[in-house]
Amino acid sequence: MGSLSFGSSSSTVGLDIGTDHVRAVQLRQAGAGFALSGYGAVEVPMGAVVEGEIVDIEAVTSAIKEVWRRSGVRGKDVSIGVSNQKVIVRLIDLPFMERAELAGAIQYQAQDYIPMAIEESILDFQIIGDYMTPSDEHMMEVLLVAAHRDMISSTVAAVEGAGLRLSQIDVSSFAIVRSLMGLNGMSDLDESGFATGIIHISSGITNIAVVEKGIPRFNRISSLAGNQFTQAVANVLNLTFDEAEHLKITVGLPDIEGGAAVPPDVDPAVAPIVQDSLEREVNKFIAEVRRSLDYYLTQTSQVRTIQRILLTGSGAQLKNLPSFLEKGLQAQVVIGDPLARVQVPANLQQAVFADRMGSATAIGLAMGGVEL
Ligand SMILES: Nc1ncnc2c1ncn2[C@@H]1O[C@H](COP(=O)(O)OP(=O)(O)OP(=O)(O)O)[C@@H](O)[C@H]1O
Ligand SMILES: [Mg+2]
Repeated sequence: MGSLSFGSSSSTVGLDIGTDHVRAVQLRQAGAGFALSGYGAVEVPMGAVVEGEIVDIEAVTSAIKEVWRRSGVRGKDVSIGVSNQKVIVRLIDLPFMERAELAGAIQYQAQDYIPMAIEESILDFQIIGDYMTPSDEHMMEVLLVAAHRDMISSTVAAVEGAGLRLSQIDVSSFAIVRSLMGLNGMSDLDESGFATGIIHISSGITNIAVVEKGIPRFNRISSLAGNQFTQAVANVLNLTFDEAEHLKITVGLPDIEGGAAVPPDVDPAVAPIVQDSLEREVNKFIAEVRRSLDYYLTQTSQVRTIQRILLTGSGAQLKNLPSFLEKGLQAQVVIGDPLARVQVPANLQQAVFADRMGSATAIGLAMGGVEL
């Protein structure tokens, strides 16, 4: 199935296979940053991708082909992102050894940290750094990634079925971090001992990550995402998913300060019901994110708070969501911009600006493949 590498390649097309959309992004180097040379997004039929896993390979293959037909994306080598229960990322501490030695030993070391059978997994690792303990032991910190072979096989099949080559598999949240924070992931806040939280909400999945000193040190996914918000509205009003989706987008959450008017085309009796159901769902969401962030903070000795959260993903466009998150998570919530480091030519602006929030994963995957 070709070689698997998490985090290094020379491919420049980022391919994000999501629950709702397949997106492709092509970048080239431009000065110290990037320029967009191709962009496309195509809808995926409902049920073809479930919780980040490809269920219907054929449907995904035809969506990928459609992206290539409709967009200016060229080239066959793609970098894809995986994000589901079958890819696991752990930061682990091991006694120091050379890289080559670790490559041989990781197979045996990994099982202690990975809740999947190692024989059924593909492993990759990255050495983050080494240090001395107070009792003078030489240790190293290693980022370990394990992905279930069968899950990777479906991805390979969907990509190869569309006549493309898989040159790299990346963890989606690493790509998201790259698109929001740049290649070295450093932010001004990192210097002061604070960590940055990342929340990316799409339709089937939310990615939660924590970045400290440029390194994504924590990563978790949740199935509380856009589709769940829609489903909550559908259930409470006994509507179809599509009807509820429309209401979710037009009504959104209530204004936390109070006083926002109901949109003119929505029944004034229905709007508060929509808002209430969304508010309940978002409160569950906040509790889940809090649990993740608290877990991270108790695991690390250096960082005491997550002061700032970057928010992205199409689902993050829910009206008034940032103020709910700020209040619930007691952190500054900033809308992240995946296009901050990317020049967008006039002919692609309309399409990509309309999908700015949704583009983070594909942009970050493509960024990972450009040699600067
Ligand atoms: N204005 C909006 N307000 C609220 N939600 C929105 C808005 N626009 C889009 N969404 C939500 O964003 C979600 C779609 O996100 P996106 O297309 O990025 O998902 P995806 O990448 O295909 O899926 P995933 O990564 O979860 O597998 C849907 O749940 C949709 O309702
Ligand atoms: Mg997505």
